[in-house]
This record gives sequence, C-alpha cells and structure tokens, in this order.
Amino acid sequence: MSNKPKVLVARAIFPDLLVKLEGSFDVRSNQADQVFTPEELQKELANVDGALVTGSERIDAAALANAKNLKIVANISVGYNNFDVPAITTAGVMASNTPDVLTDSTADFGFALLMATARRVTESERWIRDGNWDKWSIVTNPLGMDLHHSTLGIIGMGRIGQGIAKRALGFGMKVIYHNRSRLPEADEKACGATYVSKEELLRTADHVILVLPYTAENHHTIGAKEIALMKPTATLVNIARGGIVDDAALAQALKEKKIFAAGLDVFEGEPKVHPELLKLSNVVLAPHIASATEKTRRAMIDLAVENLRAAIDGKQPPSLINKEVFKG
Ligand code: DGY
Repeated sequence: MSNKPKVLVARAIFPDLLVKLEGSFDVRSNQADQVFTPEELQKELANVDGALVTGSERIDAAALANAKNLKIVANISVGYNNFDVPAITTAGVMASNTPDVLTDSTADFGFALLMATARRVTESERWIRDGNWDKWSIVTNPLGMDLHHSTLGIIGMGRIGQGIAKRALGFGMKVIYHNRSRLPEADEKACGATYVSKEELLRTADHVILVLPYTAENHHTIGAKEIALMKPTATLVNIARGGIVDDAALAQALKEKKIFAAGLDVFEGEPKVHPELLKLSNVVLAPHIASATEKTRRAMIDLAVENLRAAIDGKQPPSLINKEVFKG
C-alpha cells in the first residue's frame, strides 16, 4: 500500500500531467470525465488529502461531511462560485483558484465573441451552409454593427475586464466601465476606461460585455429592466457566469429585437441552454470556452497542482482564497 498522500482529480486532465502527479501522489483520477453526483463527490472526498476540482463540482458542507483528511480543494478555474467558502473554511479546508494564468486567453475570447456577435459571423456561416449564398449583395448579405470607434461598456473590471479594455483601444473604441469599486486612476489610464454608473453604461454603450464574478448580489444583473435601457442596435456578451443574465428575459428581448444581438459563453443551468435561445439567429452560442486554449488550460492545471502541493506540504498555496485557514 502506498504511503503517498492521496489526491482526487475530479475531472479528466491531460494524461502527461496526470502521470506527473502520480509521481508524488496516490491519485484517484476520473479520466472518463463523468461529473460526480453530490453523493459520489462526498464519497470521493472522504478519503483524500487534497482534491483538484472544477466549476462542475459543488464544494459545500455536504460534500465535505466525511472529508476528515482533506487539506485543500484546488479549483482549476478562476471563478469559484462552485465553492461555499464559509462552509469550506468552517471545515478547516483550504480553497484555491487559478487567477492570472487565464487572463489573456479569456480576454482574447471575450473580444472574439464581441466581434462574432456584432458582425454576425456564426449566423453568416450557417446562412452559407444552408445554401443561401447565390450572389454578393450590398444590401442582403448579413449586415452587422461596427466595433471600431464605437463605445464598449464593460461590467466587471477585474484583470479580464482590463484585458478586454486594452484590446478595445486598438480598435479605437471608447471604453466605459462599471465595477463594484472604481479602479485607481493609474489603472483607468492604462486601459483608457472611464467609470460610469451601470445605468449610464447600459444606456450609452454600443456593445456591453459582462466579466463580473457570480455572487448572490450579481444574480440577474442583466434582466428585462436592464435590457430595456440598452440601445436597439446594441449587443450584449456574457463571458462571466450563467445566472448573471436572466436568460429567459434575454431570449424574449432578442426575439422582439429589443437589442441587436447577444454572444453567450455561459448559461443559467449549463450545460443546458434555454430552449428559446437555441431557436434564435441573433445569438452566438459557445460552450464555456473563454479560457480554452491548451496552453492556458495546462497553465491552469499547473497552478492548481502548485496550490495542492503547497497545502499538502504545509506551505501557503500561492492563490489561497480563505487565508484564515492556513496555519503556517
Ligand atoms: C474560470 O476559470 O472561471 C472559467 O470560467 C472556467 O471555469
């Protein structure tokens, strides 16, 4: 029997990284990539010293009920709304996430989704595949909205929001933002962004992108009332989390052409997508892939493993969320 620390890897990871992990730990892996039920997760956590998890694993008091040896739950994700942090802290378990390493890939994708939405990229492709393209036309080929020299409204101005703002400068866009707290002047200057109220942002932006964390207060930050403030020519992009947008209200607004289009990488109750959204052509859909380049996903796993190793070795994990649990 191995006397290496026991580690759960709750979802599939790149095989070479798993082999590396097996050099130091007794690993219980899940390369079949089946999402555990809450009961299975509770059982899996009962006997391990550390766990690598993702946003699909809800870590709360019930999940930790029998986790007597667990030192850390290391999320392979920057967002950690899958964590009940007070419950994890009460259980004396460290919690960590993966900031920074995914900022640029996620900001790139935010921009890709902005462009695809405004310029009707996926709708155009479907239109060709459906055999509609019989001639070039000035007026009937899909006409979009410009990004260049328009006003971009960013709601949530953390690292990723600032990365998107910096990209927007290259497009000559005016950038306005709304955030829980205003950025220091030097940071505003670095990304050429002006702080405004949420209402002013919604009224004046040509394109709105959501990059804020999901919390109870941010539930349905964008619903029918907020969409009603937006320009009929505006686009809305959500790369933050499902639940920040009221998807049913958005589908209705898109159907009634209250705004021009939406781009969604995240959904309420994903991987399920609101059935009305699936019927619409003025929405670009992506399966929560903003951080999905192999380089970045590897960097996220590496950072999560670094957090896990540190906790098991009695050191402070580099991106520890609940610092009060660490007893150095
Ligand atoms: C993140 O890191 O938060 C991404 O959304 C993947 O979960």
